[in-house]
Amino acid sequence: METVRVELGERSYPIHIGARLLTRAELIVPHLAQPRAAVVTNPTVGALYLEPLSAALRGAGVDVIPISIPDGEQHKNWQTLNSIFDGLLARRVERKTTLMALGGGVVGDLAGFAAATYLRGVPFIQIPTTLLAQVDSSVGGKTGINHPLGKNMIGAFYQPKLVLADTATLDTLPARELAAGLAEVIKYGLILDRSFFDWLEASMPSLVARDPAALAQAVRRSCELKAQVVGGDERESGARALLNLGHTFGHAIEAGLSYGTWLHGEAVAAGSVLAARLSQRMGMLSEADVARVAALLRAAQLPVAAPELGVDRYLELMGLDKKVEGGKLRLILLRRIGQAYVTADFPEPALREVLASPGQA
Ligand SMILES: NC(=O)c1ccc[n+]([C@@H]2O[C@H](COP(=O)([O-])OP(=O)(O)OC[C@H]3O[C@@H](n4cnc5c(N)ncnc54)[C@H](O)[C@@H]3O)[C@@H](O)[C@H]2O)c1
Ligand SMILES: [Zn+2]
Repeated sequence: METVRVELGERSYPIHIGARLLTRAELIVPHLAQPRAAVVTNPTVGALYLEPLSAALRGAGVDVIPISIPDGEQHKNWQTLNSIFDGLLARRVERKTTLMALGGGVVGDLAGFAAATYLRGVPFIQIPTTLLAQVDSSVGGKTGINHPLGKNMIGAFYQPKLVLADTATLDTLPARELAAGLAEVIKYGLILDRSFFDWLEASMPSLVARDPAALAQAVRRSCELKAQVVGGDERESGARALLNLGHTFGHAIEAGLSYGTWLHGEAVAAGSVLAARLSQRMGMLSEADVARVAALLRAAQLPVAAPELGVDRYLELMGLDKKVEGGKLRLILLRRIGQAYVTADFPEPALREVLASPGQA
């Protein structure tokens, strides 16, 4: 097992990473304020991992209250959040009971927001079971739900007490979901760490084959990088925005094709190529760099050609993205592989050119 710490003063917490951590109650129990936990999960993940987790906790004297919510991004809404409150209130869950999220980013975001608001805040633990959740959504304290008019529009910053990333749970993850998580892993290399990017190029076949040591290494380095960024900018007033590389383009792709057609990570992959191509047009990346970025994403079995939505539609969808500040569209661009920056200063004709042939990787 390896441990990465997120340093946020009194809100600091450990991320434990390793195979078969789920049943190691001794890693969880020290973080509980009382021997009682409500575990939020969905039927897919619950069928696989709720019983082993609950049995281990019960064996350590912890009372477990399971709360099941429906599977899927379309359920990340007010109604599902309310059903979690219903479950907590029906069981008279009190302020010292810990809420646990067992699942992917949807379960984590919903359960985290429930923990932030139930009784004005109860302790929270993340047990992420998708690669995306292990490297991204479970770390950093962003929680929330979607609104019919926009994704993740309602939420709170609320840090967990512990993140337990059991890499053995990735064995049952559908291949498309694994690839979507790899898009965020590649993002960390692109924005912050060139040698990690080099390592990913060498290790991608092992990662796609789910080699446990390679996956654990990828999760660890991704968590270290995210912890470093979040530790310096918890509420995204500056550097945390770098984590959105490829996301403004990606959100436009997700919304333009209607949500659910492409997975988030798939849209981020194609969006990262668009960001790389704009960076190339601005003279920062070479053509060979852009080809490397696309090749690594392809090796991760991700799409690199963004759909033809039309330049005006792209710009409209990107303008709706919440990363717009004071009416100015801000983008994350690459100075080089391993170094990203945030800017509102880019030539619009170059952006239009990139969006006019979005399928050219
Ligand atoms: N809070 C943040 O900082 C943050 C960051 C990135 C993304 N997100 C959010 O995360 C969500 C996406 O998360 P996701 O990609 O994990 O999707 P998800 O939670 O929908 O999980 C994907 C699918 O895999 C299933 N699943 C989960 N673990 C499994 C396992 N071990 N074996 C088999 N199946 C498993 C789920 O039931 C689901 O059907 C989005 O709502 C996004 O907005 C949040
Ligand atoms: Zn993302």
